[in-house]
Amino acid sequence: MLSRRAILAAAATTSAGMMTTSATAKTEWDTIAAQYDVSRDVIQLENGNFGTMARPVYAAYRAHLERITREGSFYARRQAGPDLMAVRAKTAAVLGVAPDEILLTRGATEALQVLIAGYDRLKAGDAVLIADLDYDETQAAFQDLVKRRGVRLVSIALPEPATYQGLIDAYEKTLKADPAIKLMMLTHVSHRTGLVLPVKEIVAMARARGVDTIVDAAHSWGQLDFTLPDLGADFVGFTCHKWIGAPLGTGVAYIRKERLDAIAPALEAIGHGIDAKLHTGTTNFAATLAIKDALEFHLRVGAKAKETRLRALRDRWAEALRDHPRLEILTPSDARLTCGITSFRLKGKTSVEENRAVAADLLQRFNIFTVERPGVAKGACVRVTPALFTHESEIDALIAALKAIA
Ligand SMILES: Cc1ncc(COP(=O)(O)O)c(C=O)c1O
Repeated sequence: MLSRRAILAAAATTSAGMMTTSATAKTEWDTIAAQYDVSRDVIQLENGNFGTMARPVYAAYRAHLERITREGSFYARRQAGPDLMAVRAKTAAVLGVAPDEILLTRGATEALQVLIAGYDRLKAGDAVLIADLDYDETQAAFQDLVKRRGVRLVSIALPEPATYQGLIDAYEKTLKADPAIKLMMLTHVSHRTGLVLPVKEIVAMARARGVDTIVDAAHSWGQLDFTLPDLGADFVGFTCHKWIGAPLGTGVAYIRKERLDAIAPALEAIGHGIDAKLHTGTTNFAATLAIKDALEFHLRVGAKAKETRLRALRDRWAEALRDHPRLEILTPSDARLTCGITSFRLKGKTSVEENRAVAADLLQRFNIFTVERPGVAKGACVRVTPALFTHESEIDALIAALKAIA
């Protein structure tokens, strides 16, 4: 496997554009940033939507597309199967599980649909639990589950400001108060605020009470350094097109081998193994094949290094403005609860419209692209999401803009 040093060396030699950029680069992170052909016309601090591909991943994706287009069914009928199995094996290895415990999907939404809609251990009288910070579509999938299975929905607001123990306690208190809860949703990194949940502790606490957990790891994989055994969860949905940097339309569903029976097959006639849990028909092979290239790039930069870098970019503005009298930074300083994403609100501005106006002001007056996020119990906010291609100077521009706005 190539080291990060090797990436940097390759970066200096692979293209003229790269050389120009790296000649002026001040740090090795500038050299990694130069591997992304992103527009600098606007300061892009809304990278939570999807993670644009690094140049080597895009080149590999194009090569896969070209081959598939050139060889057509001659490739699809003979070589696609083994190639896709190799992607699956690599993905499982990086996640620290067996290949027959994962499914390659078209994103986290699809992966989580398989897990939520397919969960078939509920009976009349049971309840299921969601929180305000969970993703809108997973909340919607739980609402559907409630209708279809005739169970009860319990919804909580997570504490704000949050503490590590306070988050565990919030879930434990809810499960204690309502023993009918048998299934809960847990979002590892909130897309609304960037809050990181202590998933391992909460999953273990819930399991001890006989409660199953479905984990949404859409924003954590590739942003935080962990493997599946670190979480201890039985059912997890991932995306590869955010922080792993694969092409759009790629994701993973994980079901622990011993729990395969808890998720109903999509087509029973196909069987009861992991492959029967989702049936998509023919998909975009090229995108799926490029997951392997994206994982290689991810590993070359280093999962821990990515986490450290993204948190440093986040700390640079969020901790600098922590004590600003007119700003609320929605994730705490505790590094266990933070990653690259963090949201803020101007004190007292809690409506979606007010936060949309703040994001619009950042764009129009300061050329900084962010996004408003609704759905947080204590009020809407504006989300700031750096990426590996973000420069410190761009974060400093945000700090200056927020000081001017607040
Ligand atoms: C928390 C969370 N879960 C799930 C998803 C869905 O991810 P995907 O785009 O892979 O379907 C997103 C996407 O933004 C998300 O933020």
